[in-house]
Amino acid sequence: MLIKVLGSSAGGGLPQINCNCRNCADARRGSPALRARTQSSLAVSRDGQDWTLLNASPDLRQQIAATSQLWPRPQAGARGSPITAVVLTSADVDHIAGLLNLREGMAFMLYASASVLAALRANPIYNVLDPGHVVQATLPLGSVLATPGGLSVEAFPVPGKVALYLENLPEAVGLRAGDTIGLKVFDPSTGAAFFYIPGCAAVDADLAARLRGAPLVLFDGTLYTDDEMIVQGLSPKTGQRMGHMAMAGPQGSIAAFKALHVERRIFVHINNSNPALREGSAERAEVERAGWEIAWDGMEIQL
Ligand code: MLT
Ligand code: MN
Ligand code: ZN
Repeated sequence: MLIKVLGSSAGGGLPQINCNCRNCADARRGSPALRARTQSSLAVSRDGQDWTLLNASPDLRQQIAATSQLWPRPQAGARGSPITAVVLTSADVDHIAGLLNLREGMAFMLYASASVLAALRANPIYNVLDPGHVVQATLPLGSVLATPGGLSVEAFPVPGKVALYLENLPEAVGLRAGDTIGLKVFDPSTGAAFFYIPGCAAVDADLAARLRGAPLVLFDGTLYTDDEMIVQGLSPKTGQRMGHMAMAGPQGSIAAFKALHVERRIFVHINNSNPALREGSAERAEVERAGWEIAWDGMEIQL
C-alpha cells in the first residue's frame, strides 16, 4: 500500500491568502524553514494504479498537477483518471470543496457518513457530480467496505464538531455521530493498515482502544496550543471551539498517545499558526522528541 500526502495543512493552507502571521509571511518569502503546504488530503493505493482520495481539498487541482500517479494514463483512452474513489471524513470546506474539481465526467465512488452526504445533498452546487458517473454511498460506521481499488475502509465516529457553515442551521443542532469520522484503511491481502484522523477533539476511551498498538496513525495536528490563534491575534477561537485537540498540554494529542504504543505517529491537517511547522523551533523539537513526525506535501509512505 502506498500513501501519498497531497496536502498537509489545515483550512487556509500555508501561506493563507490573507494571513500575515510569522509562519505565513516566511512561507510566502520561501523561507527554507517553512515549506508551503496545501489543504488536507491523502491519496492511497494498493497497487499504484488505482487511487482513493481521503478528502478532496480546495487545492485538489494543484495537488493532482503535482502528483504524476494521479494523471490520466496513456492507455486510458481520450479521458480517464486513476482516482476511482473519494472518502470524506467531514463536511468541512477543506475536505469537500475539491469535489468540484472532479466534475469533468469522471466516474468514481464517493463515500461519506450519512450526515456528510446529507450536507452535500443540501447544497445544490454538488449536483455537478452527475449520478451517472459518481455513485454516492453511505459509509456505515463501524463496518468495513471495499473500495474499487481493493482497499478496505472502516469508518468510526470521533469527537469533533459539525462543519462551521452548518453550525447555525436548525438541523445541525448538536453533534450527530458521523459529522467527524476517523478511518482505518487496510489492504486485506497483506494486512498493512493505518489510521487517518485529520480532525479530532479528544482521544476518548473508544478511540484509545481502537488506536492502541497501531502501526501508523496520521492525526489532527491543527494547533500546537489550544489558544495559539487568540494569542497570535488571528482569531477569537480556541482549538476546542473548532473541534480540534492541540498537540501540547495535558489534554493534548502528544500526551494522549503516550500510553497507546502507536509505532509511527504523523501530524497532518496542520494550521498555518502552528509553531511546530517551523524547522528548528522549540515546538518542532518537542514534537520530534515525543516521537511524532510533521507531514509535508508529497510525503510518501509505503506500507
Ligand atoms: C476545521 O478544520 O476546523 C475547518 O476546516 C475550519 C474551516 O472551516 O476552515
Ligand atoms: Mn479543517
Ligand atoms: Zn498565518
